Amino acid sequence: MTYYVTTPIYYVNDAPHLGHAYTTLAADVLARWHRRRGEDVWFLTGTDEHGQKILRTAQQNGVGPQEWADRLVHDSWQPLWQHLEIANDDFIRTTQRRHTDRVQEFVQDLYDRGEIYKGGYEGPYCVGCEEYKLPGELIDGEGEYAGQKLCPIHRKPVEMLQEENYFFRLSAYADRLLDHYAANPDFIQPESARNEVVNFVRQGLQDLSISRSTFDWGVPVPWDDKHVIYVWVDALLNYATAVGYNENPEKFASTFPADVHLVGKDILRFHAIIWPAMLLANGLPLPGRIAANGWLMVGGEKMSKSNLTGIRPQDLTSHFGVDAYRWYFLRAIAFGQDGSFSWEDFTARYTSELANDYGNLASRVTAMVGKYFGGTLPEATAVGEAEQAIHDGLTRAVAEADRRIGDELDFQGGIVAVFGFIKQVNGYLTEQEPWKVAKDESPEGRARLATILYTAAESLRAIAVLLDPVMPETSRKLWDSLGAETSLGALADQRIQESGEWGRLPAGTTVTKGAVLFPRLEEAPAT
Ligand code: ME8
Ligand code: MG
Repeated sequence: MTYYVTTPIYYVNDAPHLGHAYTTLAADVLARWHRRRGEDVWFLTGTDEHGQKILRTAQQNGVGPQEWADRLVHDSWQPLWQHLEIANDDFIRTTQRRHTDRVQEFVQDLYDRGEIYKGGYEGPYCVGCEEYKLPGELIDGEGEYAGQKLCPIHRKPVEMLQEENYFFRLSAYADRLLDHYAANPDFIQPESARNEVVNFVRQGLQDLSISRSTFDWGVPVPWDDKHVIYVWVDALLNYATAVGYNENPEKFASTFPADVHLVGKDILRFHAIIWPAMLLANGLPLPGRIAANGWLMVGGEKMSKSNLTGIRPQDLTSHFGVDAYRWYFLRAIAFGQDGSFSWEDFTARYTSELANDYGNLASRVTAMVGKYFGGTLPEATAVGEAEQAIHDGLTRAVAEADRRIGDELDFQGGIVAVFGFIKQVNGYLTEQEPWKVAKDESPEGRARLATILYTAAESLRAIAVLLDPVMPETSRKLWDSLGAETSLGALADQRIQESGEWGRLPAGTTVTKGAVLFPRLEEAPAT
């Protein structure tokens, strides 16, 4: 069976920002972690290209919606994911035939099963969310929007829509959904998100309008081409169409459903209510887990396209580097909670944890192997209590990081566990003072020095493996400088489960002092 991880497919109304990169990075780290466990992994991301929001944006820019989508995908979305070393296995676009044909089949199937009927609806609609709102959810506008009702997420006025639409019998699924939530306590994470969904469904569900007839930028309803399929039904189906629904039965059976759908909490209800109800209605299995991340805030406000804070991911990577960027948000924010970004916090953590703790450890150890042993890793022949404590520390760090990142999606907890081990090794060096031991040229002194440096280098070997999913470029550099490729093979072939086995890096390996892992920062740009 394949471990199948997804991100939301993002709207192409604008270029990606820090918030999109946040969810995508979390998914990338999770996918890489499971690959390092030796599992067969499928990691999907992509773009959501239909609907009124994209159509309007394209019109405002004076181009057709397909041309607009192509431009955004090729010039903005795919290049950013490449820049951030996102290792997705596929990239689905909802305008691709492999998707649209299958969406029509899925919806036709629901229609044939009597799950869809024609009806009328009138209600407040938010184009930003692409969703009808309940009157009770709306907030009162102020200032320029005084007297109007606003979407609570986008803080923009809603529009009254009245349409003859096709409806999906969502209301019929409330009890089965509640049963599923009760039987699968981990289905929705974190707990706060789960409670929100359960409370919402307990109040009863309304049927869902699943077609639109006032514009045509979408997948035509197969039995009535005056309508296009509602963009959310279209979009959610990407998770099935991209892995062979109705097209490649073998691929589909081994991959679907997803083990984890990573989403932001803004789109939790679509994933935890509508999506599983669509699957139940079609007799398909439900995903393992819907994990919602919190808001990334800048200056106290949610980062969003309509509320641009002016910081692009590229502004941060050009200052801190790609790996530090990949690390920072997962390290600084507890996954599932809201978290703030600031240059000050990023700078402080970069300097203390990356440059001082991790970078210095690597450069000290590799430099000392060079200076005292001519770059040939010596053997540890005088292992005592201090070394045993390091071995035990590593065993604990591996178990904890694996459980937290791989199973619990607690990226922060897992990273902290590995950095706790880095601190422990730094403390070990401070106590053992190899630079003083080096002055003792007796056989005992040499044996002691060899043992200390072997212990520290072997610790770095494990650290490189454990941090590879988070900071792949740094791990590649460290792997090179430890000479590990020759003795242990490619970094990509290392297994998390074996990374804590002590003594994998053989004595005799050629260690070189590589480039500085985390260079001193230039002065931060004025903000
Ligand atoms: O909703 N903090 O696309 P979208 C954290 N096309 N995460 C954030 C964020 C922030 N400030 N801003 C955005 C859509 N995100 C639909 C999805 S899926 C079948 C269809 C992330 O472009 C977060 O993952 O509006 C959020 O759910 C997603 O971007 C919304 O992206
Ligand atoms: Mg959105």
